[in-house]
Amino acid sequence: MKTVSTTPFQDQKPGTSGLRKKVPVFQQPNYVENFIQSVFDSLEGFEGQTLVIGGDGRFFNREVIQIAIKMASANGFGRVLVGQGGILSTPAASNVIRKNKAFGGLILSASHNPGGPNEDFGIKYNTGNGGPAPEKVTDAIYARSRVIDTYKICETPDVDLDQIGRVEVGTMDVEIIDSVADYAALMEELFDFAAIKAKIAGGFRLTFDAMHAVTGPYAKEILERRLGAAEGSVKNFVPLEDFGGHHPDPNLVHAKDLYDLMMSDDAPDFGAASDGDGDRNLIIGKGIFVTPSDSLAMLAANAHLAPAYAGGLKGIARSMPTSRAADRVAEKLGVKAYETPTGWKFFGNLLDAGLATICGEESAGTGSDHVREKDGLWAVLLWLNILAVRGESVKAIAEAHWTEYGRNFYARHDYEDVDTQAANGLVAELREKLDRLAGTSVQGMTIAAADDFSYLDPVDGSTSANQGIRILFEGDSRIVYRLSGTGTSGATLRVYIERFEPDAAKHDVPTPEALADLIAAADEIAGIRAKTGRNEPSVIT
Ligand code: G6P
Ligand code: ZN
Repeated sequence: MKTVSTTPFQDQKPGTSGLRKKVPVFQQPNYVENFIQSVFDSLEGFEGQTLVIGGDGRFFNREVIQIAIKMASANGFGRVLVGQGGILSTPAASNVIRKNKAFGGLILSASHNPGGPNEDFGIKYNTGNGGPAPEKVTDAIYARSRVIDTYKICETPDVDLDQIGRVEVGTMDVEIIDSVADYAALMEELFDFAAIKAKIAGGFRLTFDAMHAVTGPYAKEILERRLGAAEGSVKNFVPLEDFGGHHPDPNLVHAKDLYDLMMSDDAPDFGAASDGDGDRNLIIGKGIFVTPSDSLAMLAANAHLAPAYAGGLKGIARSMPTSRAADRVAEKLGVKAYETPTGWKFFGNLLDAGLATICGEESAGTGSDHVREKDGLWAVLLWLNILAVRGESVKAIAEAHWTEYGRNFYARHDYEDVDTQAANGLVAELREKLDRLAGTSVQGMTIAAADDFSYLDPVDGSTSANQGIRILFEGDSRIVYRLSGTGTSGATLRVYIERFEPDAAKHDVPTPEALADLIAAADEIAGIRAKTGRNEPSVIT
């Protein structure tokens, strides 16, 4: 074991979901070591305890895992559990942490961002509940990283990550575990596999795009081997270090092939995809894309049809920019609806305290209290369970949902890689005029209220301010502006647009049409074109 002197980096501030940078940034001498030591220095009481390590298999994953193992040993952990080949999907890692009562875990991923020598990498610390570290921990890590002057590491040979079994590094045990087994077992506990299997045997066809990312092995095992979907139902199932050169982001831009297939005449009954680290999901029925916000609402409304949720939901939580469709379901179910800032970490306290059972975000994340991360395959399986019990198509279920609850038309417009100063200026100017907006009219619509979202955590009493600008119109339409906390270059302005339509006769209007006046209003209020120099968003989801 040795203690190495180092000099701090000033840019190791964890964002919405851990520290994310380009690979060459992580490859600077001591960059990884500094950050991991800063994590360990911010924790207390882990001596002799278990640490879980795994990642999404992207470029640089194996190198960082070797460093993390040697540093965990030198810092006094008693045991590390590592997914075979360095692979653990983010929800699977959360499950391994919880199941083994680990002290915490290091998850190596940059989620849906591209991978490769010049692309993205990330390191995230999760606490013993299996969830992303709360802000007070990430703030401590950042503070430590700015002054750190030494790190501890064992000078031992690399561990064979591909060989399941146990070895020692210094005095610490390293167990290489099956990446899929525990997770698949958990899914079998939650859902009615027999019903889904019977449905598939009866001719129901599905397709799942693993996007050459981490869910390939999980989806193969669960959908094809355990549930009997035809071989080949899981596409792009071999995880690649560069995701085959694509963005492993399950949205209508990057999973366009899936979308096109699902809109074609020979579409299967159900299509889905997940992202780089397996926590996001995209759900498309035959001829119908289900927005993540709608998916949350529909899953919540039907969750009782799956064994794990048969007893009902304790509450439903969504991130602030997520459409308020789920709130309507909560109201009908007579349970509480929670509105949190963007970032899965904010759901952790609600789940731990038993206040919420199901959570979701507009950014294609849905999950429940079974782990403390969002979970892509979980969402797919809950949909399949619901489809098996109801015996209706995705389209029929969606339309019936809108008829019952009304429809929240929804779209997110992203302006990526915008000049940081321009983006900050746009937000600052909006903030400055917030107080004067209520009562004014834009594009013929009256603004009912405007604020900068601030969250008071009902469990620990902490406050998170400046979480996004909300413009609420009379009639319950809404525009939200915020800057992304996960980008790695420039700034990404996200504009979230939502319109509530109670009238079922108007539910089949195409979304861009339903939102046209709000889209114009969004530009008029914030001056997006003028300030960013962009005439249109880079991505619409
Ligand atoms: C990650 C987080 C999510 C978040 C999403 C978008 O996936 O886990 O909780 O919603 O990023 O965050 P951003 O700050 O880029 O809008
Ligand atoms: Zn992800």
